[in-house]
Amino acid sequence: MKGIVFTEFLNLVEAKFGYEMVDQIITESNLPSKGIYTNIGTYEHSEIVQLVTALSKHTNIPVPDLLKIYGIHFFPILGNGYSHFLTGVKSGFELLESIEHYIHVEVIKLYPDAELPRFENRRLSPNCLEMIYHSKRKMADFAEGLMRSAFDHFGEKVEIERENLEADGSSVRFTITQI
Ligand code: HEM
Repeated sequence: MKGIVFTEFLNLVEAKFGYEMVDQIITESNLPSKGIYTNIGTYEHSEIVQLVTALSKHTNIPVPDLLKIYGIHFFPILGNGYSHFLTGVKSGFELLESIEHYIHVEVIKLYPDAELPRFENRRLSPNCLEMIYHSKRKMADFAEGLMRSAFDHFGEKVEIERENLEADGSSVRFTITQI
């Protein structure tokens, strides 16, 4: 995964739980990078899994909740760093529908080694969007956090229903309804 995923995660951990916690989870995890990340570097996906798992152990916050919180925190970072992807976009649905055919397409041009999910989108009605998430990294909780933060950005209220299409979480159907 790209380094920005790690540096922002560790910034969030430091802000919420202090530097000692950052130090502790890095020390306890078996990280090929030794916990030294740069925004543009690329690191093994298993490193973020280990760090989140260690944080969960210390905080008693379940891993899925931590990934959602992290997604909520991460969206504004992406929005600032890549504000041109948001220019002219008027709604959360418009933004989410552009990830697969535009945003992540541009991301992979910038970083050919980025590991991105695949989304299948379908409008079930004007106020209901189905997004099926596919990724062997199984980060649907992170996706949900990003989605929620995206709707907040546009001041929109939604209900998000989830259904695992694969038991291991590698395919997840999101049904998003504007309320
Ligand atoms: C400005 C908007 C966005 C930008 C620039 C962006 C870019 C990125 C980047 C750089 C990564 C890391 C890739 C890697 O580590 O190799 C990533 C991962 C990811 N993105 Fe986006 N993204 C954006 C919006 C979104 C939104 C709104 C969603 C919500 C559905 C989303 C879903 C994901 C997920 C779930 C991952 C984790 C990788 C995986 O599950 O396989 N992205 N994105």
